[in-house]
Amino acid sequence: MAQEVCDHIPQGAQWILDGTVGHGGHTLAMHDYLCPKDVDTVHLIGVDKDEKMLADAILRLSTYPTITLGHAAYDQRDEIKKIAWVDSFDYILLDIGINRGHIWDAERGFSIKADGPLDMRFDSTSNGMTAEQYLQRMDVQDFSAKLQQYGDFSPARAEQIALHIARSRSSQPITTTLELVDVLREIKLDGRKQAIIFQVLRIVVNDELGHLERFLESFGDHLTPWGRCAIMTFHSIEDRMVKQCFKELSEKGDFHLVNKKVIIPHRKEREKNKASNSAKLRVIEKVDKGS
Ligand SMILES: C[S@@+](CC[C@H](N)C(=O)[O-])C[C@H]1O[C@@H](n2cnc3c(N)ncnc32)[C@H](O)[C@@H]1O
Repeated sequence: MAQEVCDHIPQGAQWILDGTVGHGGHTLAMHDYLCPKDVDTVHLIGVDKDEKMLADAILRLSTYPTITLGHAAYDQRDEIKKIAWVDSFDYILLDIGINRGHIWDAERGFSIKADGPLDMRFDSTSNGMTAEQYLQRMDVQDFSAKLQQYGDFSPARAEQIALHIARSRSSQPITTTLELVDVLREIKLDGRKQAIIFQVLRIVVNDELGHLERFLESFGDHLTPWGRCAIMTFHSIEDRMVKQCFKELSEKGDFHLVNKKVIIPHRKEREKNKASNSAKLRVIEKVDKGS
């Protein structure tokens, strides 16, 4: 939804933060949209929690003088300030989720189709737990609850999955993606369900909802008056969190919703890119109390 992302940049925006720069597709689209007209005034800051994605973005974008890139999670305000040298932005964009690069690189452990270590961490420079370590230590009731909450499994099916993994790990640790796929096949879970379980693990390992929650609590303090925040999600729980937060903020009167209805990709984009099918974009604007 690069066009929609660009169309929502507020007039006269100078400081723009792409909090999930990935391969830099949206950063580049915003650059091309604003420059050369505003090349002397625009500063595009791109951060990513994943140092490997960031390395790709640096390769692609390092020659653009208006773009500054750095390693940070989008809710790490202090880290972002060190990169941008400012604390407030006219436009903040989040495009939350996984990149195609994550799936293509078997070594990252995100794919159900390619064998690799069961890692799944976005930030492998941190001491965070890998998916293998999580599965080795997880509590059956706790994982079952997460499968229900993030994967929409029924309570009975979720418990069966968590119990089966716990039994398998006690005879042999599950260390690779295809070992986990084999374990899941034993209880007749097809590719679609396996992919959902991988997604649940990814959400847990990277504390994805925790990052979003922390961001939603404070992003308003880092927007300039008339500044906008645009958030694209691919998971219903994340969209619900954004929708609820934006609704509450607009009801208090300090913000207003730029679009009453959620923005979804055009049919052409959905046909061209299947992954975009579940994309949802919401945009909110900070009211200028001074005017
Ligand atoms: C869907 S991709 C973004 C793609 C990007 N908009 C582009 O056009 O190439 C999501 C990116 O967010 C990153 N990410 C996930 N959680 C993050 C977090 N808490 N803080 C910063 N980046 C995060 C992932 O590493 C991934 O590169």
